[in-house]
Amino acid sequence: MEQVTYSSPAKIILFGEHFVVYGAKAISSAINLRSFVRATRTYRPTISIRSRNLGLSAEWTHEGLVHESPRNSSRRLAPLHEVIKAIVRDRRLGLSVEVWSDIPRGSGLGSSASVSVALAAATLGTLGADVKVSDVIDYAMIAERMIHSRPSGVDVNVVAHGGIVRYVRGGGIDRLEDVSLPSLLLVHSGLPRKTGVMVERVARFKEQKPSKFAELMVMYEGLIEEAERALVAGDSKRVGELMVENHHLLREIGVSNPTLDSMVKLALESGALGAKLTGGGGGGFVISLVNEEVRDSVMRSLAKKYRVLETSVSKDGLRREPDQSRHDRTSRALREG
Ligand code: MEV
Repeated sequence: MEQVTYSSPAKIILFGEHFVVYGAKAISSAINLRSFVRATRTYRPTISIRSRNLGLSAEWTHEGLVHESPRNSSRRLAPLHEVIKAIVRDRRLGLSVEVWSDIPRGSGLGSSASVSVALAAATLGTLGADVKVSDVIDYAMIAERMIHSRPSGVDVNVVAHGGIVRYVRGGGIDRLEDVSLPSLLLVHSGLPRKTGVMVERVARFKEQKPSKFAELMVMYEGLIEEAERALVAGDSKRVGELMVENHHLLREIGVSNPTLDSMVKLALESGALGAKLTGGGGGGFVISLVNEEVRDSVMRSLAKKYRVLETSVSKDGLRREPDQSRHDRTSRALREG
């Protein structure tokens, strides 16, 4: 039986969430939390998916659902099922898929994109097909379109390629190889949110206030040019200031809230270079850029109110994992960090 495991990282958006949906440039980074998908060819001509973290499992024949536990698992796993169905065209083939992840869900860190990318790669890999990143991205977008509303593609692209990237919808992706960042903190608001809901909220804002949205888009376009120059020049102080400005623009389009604003304020008062919401907004994580000398004190002060994780850029995007024991070690090491 062919068995293949792929993993893919989480992501943060340094600049440009939501604006990227409307064609602006975003800068995003893969980070050191990963999801894993193991796909195994089976003799039974069914597709089964099990999510360890969510405690869901479902099995389908080509005619339909044959088993799920607990109820509604098949509905929640449907986006992953659609990706597999798009790849496995031969009705005689069977596939069993297991998913596990270190990435907090529903919090703007690209958990669904990461799982979808690893899943598409593992499925292609088990069938003995070429695992081309561009194909993996196309298949992963099937799930992303079901989960989010009008995904720009930034999430699947950054997690598939790894590193820090510049992304423009329809205009491709470039890795910014020479950019390095000081310490990065992930601060959790504790508020659940859905990216799709936030994307719809921005769509309504744009519809109701087209000239205001256009004005903010122009401001963002100036900001991102400067941010890219500051990143390339290694000017972390300016990068931090521009992150805060980006947060203010996101607040103007309606995706921040008092909790996220006060998290950004607290990070800055504690000595961070910059902070902003990341991903869809409305909850989830705030990212904060901090110099090494103040990292511990900023962490302590944020940790009094919020869960804080330190993270770093993951140069690896999608990668094939050699064997099960290694995945478990990698994932344990990342958790222990
Ligand atoms: C989500 O990580 C980023 C958003 O801009 C949505 C998207 O680009 O698909 C909010």
